[in-house]
Amino acid sequence: MLTELFNKSKHTVVLTGAGMSTESGLPDFRSALDGMWNEVDPLQFASRDAMKYERDLFVRFYKQRIQKLNEASPHRGYYHLAEWERSGELGCILTQNVDGFHQLAGSQNVAEMHGSLRSIYCDECGEETSSERYMNDDLVCHCGGFNRPGIVLFGEPLPMNAIHQAKVEAKKADLFIVLGSSLEVSPANVFPMEAKRNGAKLVIVNQEETGYDSAADLVIHEKIGKVLNDLAEAKAQ
Ligand code: APR
Repeated sequence: MLTELFNKSKHTVVLTGAGMSTESGLPDFRSALDGMWNEVDPLQFASRDAMKYERDLFVRFYKQRIQKLNEASPHRGYYHLAEWERSGELGCILTQNVDGFHQLAGSQNVAEMHGSLRSIYCDECGEETSSERYMNDDLVCHCGGFNRPGIVLFGEPLPMNAIHQAKVEAKKADLFIVLGSSLEVSPANVFPMEAKRNGAKLVIVNQEETGYDSAADLVIHEKIGKVLNDLAEAKAQ
């Protein structure tokens, strides 16, 4: 069924969540078993207030995430998506992830709706700096501002260009595939239904149920790595 939908589609858009990266060794947020937010309260770490009032905890939390990122790498599924972009079979990837793995695997048309852990910039003047400086606790910009990760913190606006691109793509899509998201966070969770309203087929690939499964044309409760490898094999036949 997924192979037919994918082969028939003229403009496929993929929305990825943290479930896309778990098979690369990065924990997701809400998996019943070992989601990151089961251990910590996101507002305790991933918020502007945490950055301002719990700076040491904030810095430690993100240094740990950047360290984990540097020790991990994109699994085969990322390379399939990049290959399908090159062959013109995949129009765009909208991602909630901040690991930069899609670009690392060769995808070019990627909208990072929650920013990226791969960039560090000064919270005052906006000047970019290196991850190395951040990892070495060199946290003060020459302007006196605080060098922070380029991710969107709770309480911050989302990058307008990425959200605009997501809106455009949700309108263009005739096939919209969700890979590894609980779809609990807006506005990312708006785009699957936006695409459906515009006539797209909606596919949700997620190990656990989501609140949008009933609206999907196809739901696959399986590991993403297997689903993408199976799709690649079916297309190669
Ligand atoms: N294959 C398929 N599904 C998987 C896999 C896998 N290998 N691993 C995890 N999942 C599923 C989980 O069952 C879970 O429902 O992926 C989903 C991930 O959901 P979340 O952990 O909620 O991650 P996400 O939807 O990306 O969270 C959105 O919340 O905290 C914010 O900014 C953060 O971008 C994040 C946003």
